[in-house]
Amino acid sequence: MLEVKGLSRTYQKNHKVLNNINISFPDGSFTIIAGPNGSGKTQLMRHLNGLLKPQEGEVLLGGHSIQKDLLTARKKVGLVFQNADSQIVGQTVASDIAFGPENLKWSRKIINKKVQKILEDLGLHDLKDRRPHTLSGGEKKRSVLASVLVMEPEIIVLDEPFIGLDYPGVIDVLSDIVSLHKAGRTIILITHDLEKALAHCDRLIIMNKGEICAQGEPGDLFSELEEFGIRCPWGRDRSLTSMTWLNY
Ligand SMILES: Nc1ncnc2c1ncn2[C@@H]1O[C@H](COP(=O)(O)OP(=O)(O)OP(=O)(O)O)[C@@H](O)[C@H]1O
Ligand SMILES: [Mg+2]
Repeated sequence: MLEVKGLSRTYQKNHKVLNNINISFPDGSFTIIAGPNGSGKTQLMRHLNGLLKPQEGEVLLGGHSIQKDLLTARKKVGLVFQNADSQIVGQTVASDIAFGPENLKWSRKIINKKVQKILEDLGLHDLKDRRPHTLSGGEKKRSVLASVLVMEPEIIVLDEPFIGLDYPGVIDVLSDIVSLHKAGRTIILITHDLEKALAHCDRLIIMNKGEICAQGEPGDLFSELEEFGIRCPWGRDRSLTSMTWLNY
């Protein structure tokens, strides 16, 4: 279980970007976090594996503060950033995927095996020798996802993974996310594209101005979505179970 307790962050001039955030993400849950631009979603995400150290409050993994064992937190909580370019470090797709495991000093034999498997799982095999920066937007996103998944994180946090993708690209990434959830991983998905993924989540959290202003089952939060200007294209009456692009 990943828990956030009393998390606050302030930048200069008393600009409070996170204000007393309390959330728990049970093992195997699928949570969507939505909220207007600047509401603090990415700031929250950066605390979840210790990239940002809490100014106030704490993040707990299995009941222990992640600050006490950042290496474990980085291994168990994988972050997939909105801007794929900021996450690319290797000269080729394969070496980029191998970078994390190399840092963890896994044996070369294991690294090769895991990289091979993830390339196949995500359909990236034909791109393995390409320079990541020359990939298309969608290919880059999948490559970055592979570089996170190769570490076998238990919890996967994705920041706006559908932006910039065409229809097949969205289907590919959404299928990957749903398969990971079915395989027992905990999913935290930050997105404005509720229509693509809402049917698969157990809980929706709405943030505004650095605070959690609503959380609960997605079907119960229509008024809040409207209030905070989050697009809710299907209206109040359509069944949430049809809210996925996977079956179209
Ligand atoms: N280094 C920083 N210094 C000052 N303010 C910052 C810094 N980083 C983020 N902020 C501010 O924190 C607030 C929350 O930003 P954040 O990136 O978390 O928003 P968001 O909900 O992810 O928005 P979006 O939907 O646009 O991605 C914003 O007002 C942003 O300007
Ligand atoms: Mg953001």
